[in-house]
Amino acid sequence: MAAAAPPLCAWLVAAGAHADCGADEHHRQQHRQTQCFDAGSGATFGLDRRPLGARRRGSARSGMAMSVALQPERVIVEKKRPDVKQRRVVVTGMGVVTPLGHDPDVFYNNLLDGHSGISEIETFDCSKFPTRIAGEIKSFSTEGWVVPKLSKRMDKFMLYLITAGKKALENGGLTEEVRNDLDKTRCGVLIGSAMGGMKVFNDAIEALRVSYRKMNPFCVPFATTNMGSAILAMDLGWMGPNYSISTACATSNFCILNAANHIRRGEADVMLCGGSDAPLIPIGM
Ligand SMILES: *[C@@H]1O[C@H](CO)[C@@H](O)[C@H](O)[C@H]1NC(C)=O
Repeated sequence: MAAAAPPLCAWLVAAGAHADCGADEHHRQQHRQTQCFDAGSGATFGLDRRPLGARRRGSARSGMAMSVALQPERVIVEKKRPDVKQRRVVVTGMGVVTPLGHDPDVFYNNLLDGHSGISEIETFDCSKFPTRIAGEIKSFSTEGWVVPKLSKRMDKFMLYLITAGKKALENGGLTEEVRNDLDKTRCGVLIGSAMGGMKVFNDAIEALRVSYRKMNPFCVPFATTNMGSAILAMDLGWMGPNYSISTACATSNFCILNAANHIRRGEADVMLCGGSDAPLIPIGM
């Protein structure tokens, strides 16, 4: 496995913002799993025939015995695999929408200065709740980033996502002009959400108590976790990898890691990645 570690370290260093190379055993673990999975899928390397044959033979016996027997063989196959030319992955731009500022530098300096993004909740009356504080975004405008028709209907998680995503593109110098010259089939969007459009979903349930006619017709698409990412991909016309991962607080990290892997494996040249959530409604408390 030692051979697999350095390229990942190179990425983490290149990415800079995300992790310290030596300290992050978890990411390395993840990487190892990805590598194994790769070998199993057999998409890129012809060497995989043997494990497949072994799998067929094994399945005649028992599922457990099969996986135990296969394991060492796979490791050997992977070690013998010729070095694939690794592509370097770099972070070219960043964008944020947070209680601590809507610009990466402002946000980061506020963190360094020890400012807290936690404050009293203002969006709804929470006087009857035991907790009345949260990391609420107080001042936020979609002006110039999302068309007004959509910004009135969409869930906040989508508005944050689209705004931060477009800011990241600008921050990285990918203005509309530059984007027009990109091969859009090589550009992807991988922005996750843990909860999706909670408010839109909650409002639809409330509306349904009166009548289905009161429901937001977009309640399902606007509540789905991958829709923010998908709408941004459609907005940009990007046709590369287009999905989202939902893994609670680790959502953004998994999205960033997988986006980097898409580039490393040559499946995309540009990836817009990260995560977004807006759970500040009564049930989110
Ligand atoms: C991105 O995903 C959405 C929803 O999953 C889909 O409607 C859209 O066509 C996809 N875009 C591309 C370019 O594949």
